[in-house]
Amino acid sequence: MKAKVAINGYGTIGKRVADAVSAQDDMEIVGVVKTKPSFEARIAQEKGYDLYVPAKENIELFKKSKIDVSGTLEELLDKADIVIDATPGDTGEEYKKLYGKHGVKAIWQGGEEHELTGFSFNSEANYHDALGRDFARVVSCNTTGLVRVLYPLDKAYGVRKARVTLMRRAADPNDIKTGPINALIPDPIKLPSHHGPDVNSILPDIDITTMAVKTSTTLMHLHALNIELKKTASEDDIIKIFEERPRIRLVSSKDRIKSTAEAMEFARDMGRPRGDMWENVVWKDSIAINKGELYFFQAIHQESDVVPENVDAIRAMLEIEKDGARSIKKTNKALGI
Ligand SMILES: NC(=O)c1ccc[n+]([C@@H]2O[C@H](COP(=O)([O-])OP(=O)(O)OC[C@H]3O[C@@H](n4cnc5c(N)ncnc54)[C@H](OP(=O)(O)O)[C@@H]3O)[C@@H](O)[C@H]2O)c1
Repeated sequence: MKAKVAINGYGTIGKRVADAVSAQDDMEIVGVVKTKPSFEARIAQEKGYDLYVPAKENIELFKKSKIDVSGTLEELLDKADIVIDATPGDTGEEYKKLYGKHGVKAIWQGGEEHELTGFSFNSEANYHDALGRDFARVVSCNTTGLVRVLYPLDKAYGVRKARVTLMRRAADPNDIKTGPINALIPDPIKLPSHHGPDVNSILPDIDITTMAVKTSTTLMHLHALNIELKKTASEDDIIKIFEERPRIRLVSSKDRIKSTAEAMEFARDMGRPRGDMWENVVWKDSIAINKGELYFFQAIHQESDVVPENVDAIRAMLEIEKDGARSIKKTNKALGI
C-alpha cells in the first residue's frame, strides 16, 4: 500500500514536494492545504490533488471563487500517515500540537528552528537516524547545499575548517514583495550567518563559519567555499568525490555555464518541471587546491534542492526503506535526476 502524504502549505516548496511525491510508486498525495483561493489552487485541482483549508472560516473564500474544497486540515490529517509542513516559517509550534493530536508524523522545512523537532535531516548525511521518527526538519536550501558537499569531503579527507561566503538570492521569482532591486546587503551585518550553525545541526563536528550577502537576483544562491582538509587531496580527487555523489551536478564554464542564469537555462533545456535544478551545481573548473586549501563555487536552486530530501525523509520516517542509498536512488530515478 502507498504511504499517504498530506501537504500543509502549498507554495514554492509545497507544490514541488507534492509533484515529487506523486512521481514515486510507494507514496501518494491525499490532499494539499491552502489558505486562500488562487491560480495555484485551481492548478492543484487540475492535477488531481484534493484541496483542504486550515479551518472552516477559509471555506467561504473558496466558495466565492467557485473552487471546491474537500474539508479542513484536521479532516485531512485523519487520512494521512505523514504531513509535509511547507507553511511559512514560525507556525511550527502551533501545527506540531495539531499533528500530535491526530497521531500524524510531520516534516518541516528550513524556516523552522532545529529545536522544533530536535532532528534535522539530509539524505546522505543522516538518513539512518531518521528511521521511524515522528518529527523531522529538512534543513534550508543553503544548508542542504552545504551539507551535500561537506559530508562527503569530511568522510574522505576530514574537514579541518570550512569558511563559506553565501551570495543569497533576495527573493523567489514569483515574489513581488521583497527587494533589494539595486543593492547588495550584508545579511546579517555581523558574522556568522545562521547557515554555519545550521550545518552543525547535522554535522556537529565540522568547524564552519558562514557570512552571507543578499543580492538582487531571484534565480539561485551562489556559494564561495574555502575548506581546509585534514588529509592531502588533489583537484582530481575532489572532482572524483563529487562525480560519485547522487545530487551534485558538475558543470564547466567551458560548456558556457558561467553563471546562475546559464545553470537555470540548462535545467530548463533538460526539460525539468518548472525548470528546477534539484542538484548542487558545482563548477568543476572552479575546484582549486591553493596553498593546501580547497576552493570552489557552487550554485543552489533555492526553490527545488530540498525537494528530493523531503521524499527521502518520508521513506525514512515511515520506514518504507531502511537503506538511505537505496531511497536516494529510487527518488532520483523517479524524478529523472
Ligand atoms: N522558497 C525557498 O527558497 C525555500 C527554500 C527552502 C526552504 N524553504 C522553507 O520552506 C517553507 C515554505 O516556504 P515557501 O517558500 O514554500 O513559502 P511560500 O511560497 O510562501 O508558501 C507558503 C504556503 O503556505 C501557505 N500558508 C500560509 N500560512 C499558512 C497557514 N497558517 N496554514 C497553512 N498554510 C499556510 C500559503 O498559502 P496561501 O498561498 O493559500 O496563502 C502558501 O501556499 C519555509 O519554512 C521556508 O523557509 C523555502
